[in-house]
Amino acid sequence: MNHPMPHSTMSAKPPETRAAEQGGDRHSAPRSTSYQASASAGLFETISRAERWETTTHESILGQDPVLEIKDFKLWYGSAQAIHDVSFSVPRGKVTALIGPSGCGKSTLLRSVNRMNDLVDSVRIEGEMLLSGDPIYGSGVDVIELRKRIGMVFQKPNPFPMSLFENVVYSLRIDGERDKTLLQETCERSLMGAGLWDEVKDRLNDSALQLSGGQQQRLCIARAIAAEPEVLLLDEPCSALDPIATGKIEDLIDDLKGSYTVLIVTHNMQQASRISDNTAFMYLGRLVEYGPTEGIFLAPRLQETEDYVTGRFG
Ligand SMILES: Nc1ncnc2c1ncn2[C@@H]1O[C@H](COP(=O)(O)OP(=O)(O)OP(=O)(O)O)[C@@H](O)[C@H]1O
Ligand SMILES: [Mg+2]
Repeated sequence: MNHPMPHSTMSAKPPETRAAEQGGDRHSAPRSTSYQASASAGLFETISRAERWETTTHESILGQDPVLEIKDFKLWYGSAQAIHDVSFSVPRGKVTALIGPSGCGKSTLLRSVNRMNDLVDSVRIEGEMLLSGDPIYGSGVDVIELRKRIGMVFQKPNPFPMSLFENVVYSLRIDGERDKTLLQETCERSLMGAGLWDEVKDRLNDSALQLSGGQQQRLCIARAIAAEPEVLLLDEPCSALDPIATGKIEDLIDDLKGSYTVLIVTHNMQQASRISDNTAFMYLGRLVEYGPTEGIFLAPRLQETEDYVTGRFG
């Protein structure tokens, strides 16, 4: 599913008819005069007046091989809706940045992708997510297996209280892997992939908790890639790191491109423009605009996107 879904309360007319009436393509948000003139705060007043919502998706990213498809996804914490009708596809082997002001739902959306929100009692969801065509929320989905296919690294590094070695090979241990050579090879390859091998190769049996914050974060990335996930979710992985450690993680993300699909939340616009192929801009729980990173940063279609990427709000 590559095109955005309409708002659930929209008119009964088919999207093509509405798009033709609006003089735009079917992937664009409705463009009434008031919409174009709206300031950021006015955008959602306009939407509620129009009672419909569509993400503005740049045509050039349609048709890319999707590894992750999110369809009309909604999420509530109790009675508060945090995600509204989000639909988009994350292409395989690319880096996709998720940007937007604090509280707009980026972490909620990311956590929903590997079902971390299952752990929150008040959460209710609607809609669909597919990983390589398999329903993420299907009945009978083994969440442990799912999380091997979708790795996640959080803002704050969370190494397990065990040795560096055991941290990295954790997913293989869960599978009961005992082949020492295979475990050692995986550990070395993953630490190299995470740009940490040279710094720690002589202390693999030390506790992971002795590492610096930047090293811990790279260890968590090594642990995630050891499982060879189809998708790697990174939620502000550099926010607590210095520029050197940040540079190493950005290099790592660049190296992962092609072999892995990365969906990364970042508040750093320079970082998003440096490392990502595509960028999705969220605001107030909605996906506002989605396109190639260059397009989002240099030629955004919506005033709201331009205001955000140029630092005028958020
Ligand atoms: N466990 C929770 N229970 C209730 N509400 C929550 C919970 N987690 C998040 N929220 C609310 O959901 C909304 C989206 O939060 P979320 O953490 O996804 O935002 P974010 O875009 O990641 O923000 P930031 O950039 O600050 O990390 C916020 O209004 C937040 O208060
Ligand atoms: Mg967050």
